[in-house]
Amino acid sequence: MKIFHLSAECYPMAKVGGLADVVGALPKYQQNAGHQVRVVVPAYDTKFKHENDFETVHSDNVVLGNFIFTYNVLKETTNKLGYELYLIEIKELFDRPNVYGYEDDIERFLSFQIATLDWILAKNVIPDVINCHDHHTGLIPFMLQFSYKYEAVSKIRTVITIHNGLYQGWFGHDKMHYIPEFDVRHAGFLEWDNSLNSLAVAVKCADAVTTVSPSYLDEINVSANGLESLFNQMRSKSKGILNGIDIEVWNPFTDKMLESHYSIDNFEFGKQKNKERLCERFELDSSKPLFSFIGRLFDEKGGDLLPQASAIALSENFENINILILGSGNPDIETQLLQLQNDYKGNYNVFIGYNEELAHLIYAGSDFILMPSRVEPCGLNQMYALRYGTVPIVRRTGGLRDTVIDFGDDGNGICHNQASVEDVCYSINRAVNLYDDKTGFNKIIKKGMATDHSWERVCQEYIETYNQIIQKNES
Ligand code: GLC
Repeated sequence: MKIFHLSAECYPMAKVGGLADVVGALPKYQQNAGHQVRVVVPAYDTKFKHENDFETVHSDNVVLGNFIFTYNVLKETTNKLGYELYLIEIKELFDRPNVYGYEDDIERFLSFQIATLDWILAKNVIPDVINCHDHHTGLIPFMLQFSYKYEAVSKIRTVITIHNGLYQGWFGHDKMHYIPEFDVRHAGFLEWDNSLNSLAVAVKCADAVTTVSPSYLDEINVSANGLESLFNQMRSKSKGILNGIDIEVWNPFTDKMLESHYSIDNFEFGKQKNKERLCERFELDSSKPLFSFIGRLFDEKGGDLLPQASAIALSENFENINILILGSGNPDIETQLLQLQNDYKGNYNVFIGYNEELAHLIYAGSDFILMPSRVEPCGLNQMYALRYGTVPIVRRTGGLRDTVIDFGDDGNGICHNQASVEDVCYSINRAVNLYDDKTGFNKIIKKGMATDHSWERVCQEYIETYNQIIQKNES
């Protein structure tokens, strides 16, 4: 089968969050399974773009209302990623360091989508399926079906995979004319709640909708930032497919970013060495349990709970624990977290920013990973943590609910129900007791390390979804 993945992010080309990890890994496993897979992302000004070689395979102009931009389709030439990577280069729009956060994001991602379809049409590189990811690629299913220009390729089937339904890519009616000409009778597909909504269009028009975990699909039928009734209507073509992780990149036995390697059969020594390295760097005490948080510091991830929960946990436990935080986001949360540094020196530290290498070391060297998320469509950190023998402490929501079971129920982690400071502290206290029971703790670590979250298993579920929509169309 010929598959295209269209996304705003793909690791290692451009990463903001978990979306990049998924789009950087799933295609590789689909390709390994015998499919022809291409990933298409915008050509941002990133380190990966500078350090790798590309060949221009197509160039033309893309029209966006009254704007005309030149675009180039660049193909990564070494093929070392395990799938073909293509970048859509539009200098005026993407030759910038960041993926998101610009005033013209609507123009940027619409141009990206139109240029991709123009290239597919011009060069006749027609896939069986385009798997769109999140709202940045949400107009593709609509344009393929209704824009006159793409009539010749309208048979391409489409899937929208939702990694985060809170962000929907709203825009005003004044920009409707950016979309290549279509029969106005279909304009209703573009609308939701008096504006144009990229995610809603995708959910309405795609042949199938997938979410990144089964529980998240249940949740967005109840609460989805205004789209819940739409998700209800579209339930019959929707499926929750739990993400996998790239077990080649995330392997504590071979990971080059670690201080010391280890495996399920012998993890204590290796984990301790990584912990010592980490504690040395952040002036922590390696003889005490280490609780870490990695991620974006937003309310959605429970980032707002961290300053108070850390302060309470550190004072209640009489400095018998360490807390380390790696992340960036809401400036208020960042400030509060930085302020704690003076009060709990030697047991607490924070690194504002993101660093892939450090993240790997934190997964390996920590005893517990905190994930107090309010919303978590899937969550990859708990899976990385499990694989690295680090016990996840999670709020039961979305993909966290599907992957972490409380050790009291014979599971692999620690779970609580509320996104509250009290619940986080309660779980930390349970963790401290668990840590003191070495035999019990090691048993849970082993159980986590043995869990199989590899893409091999999961990738087949995507292929089945693609097959179903292709067959449905043929019958
Ligand atoms: C988004 C979600 C996260 C998910 C990731 C990959 O970042 O917030 O829960 O794991 O996408 O699908």
